[in-house]
Amino acid sequence: MKTKPLILLAIALGGLAAGAAVAAGNPCAQNPCAKPANPCAAKAGIDPKQVTRPAGYQPQAGDPKLGEQLWMDTRLSSNGMSCNSCHANHGAFQAGFAEPYPHFVAMAKDQAGLKAVHLDEMIQACMLMPMAAKPLPWDSKELAALTAYTRDAVQKTFRPANPCSARSANPCAAKPANPCAK
Ligand code: HEC
Repeated sequence: MKTKPLILLAIALGGLAAGAAVAAGNPCAQNPCAKPANPCAAKAGIDPKQVTRPAGYQPQAGDPKLGEQLWMDTRLSSNGMSCNSCHANHGAFQAGFAEPYPHFVAMAKDQAGLKAVHLDEMIQACMLMPMAAKPLPWDSKELAALTAYTRDAVQKTFRPANPCSARSANPCAAKPANPCAK
């Protein structure tokens, strides 16, 4: 008649052990892919009005030489970045960059709810978000220059085969790469 309590004891101990194992930390509980580990993902949403062309806006012709200087200029941002910090060698652009504007840009959709943007609007979005600065005045020669340079020198030479533009570049996108997937 001693076996029954022993079995119960064993079950109870087993339960404790299992509980301890859970408390000790399941390595998969902290899935590194659960957080937005993608460095290309921009933060906090913005008011779409801040990056939308004002009523009656007429794009001006810009000076691409000035645009190139501004593209490299970290003084445009509040965080030490220049456009070139992210976009050198066409970095951070998705395949859609090759399409004529206005077009869909994931960041504009995710952060401002905009389904399509003009090039100058997207430059304003990058001024505001990744550059952590204010949008440029819409009638400024700086915005016109950056727009001209981005269109004539950067977009024209862009080929969507850039590895940074492929979604699979995100290690969390590929299921087999996630050790916690199974
Ligand atoms: C910290 C990194 C970073 C900086 C700095 C940055 N950008 Fe961007 N830029 C991005 C990301 C990320 C995207 C979004 C790509 C997407 O969602 O398709 C983007 C998108 C763009 C696009 C739209 C591409 C398309 O598909 O149409 C343009 C144009 C652009 N940036 C220009 C600029 C300019 C000009 C500057 C400087 C004033 C700048 N960016 C600064 C990261 C940056």
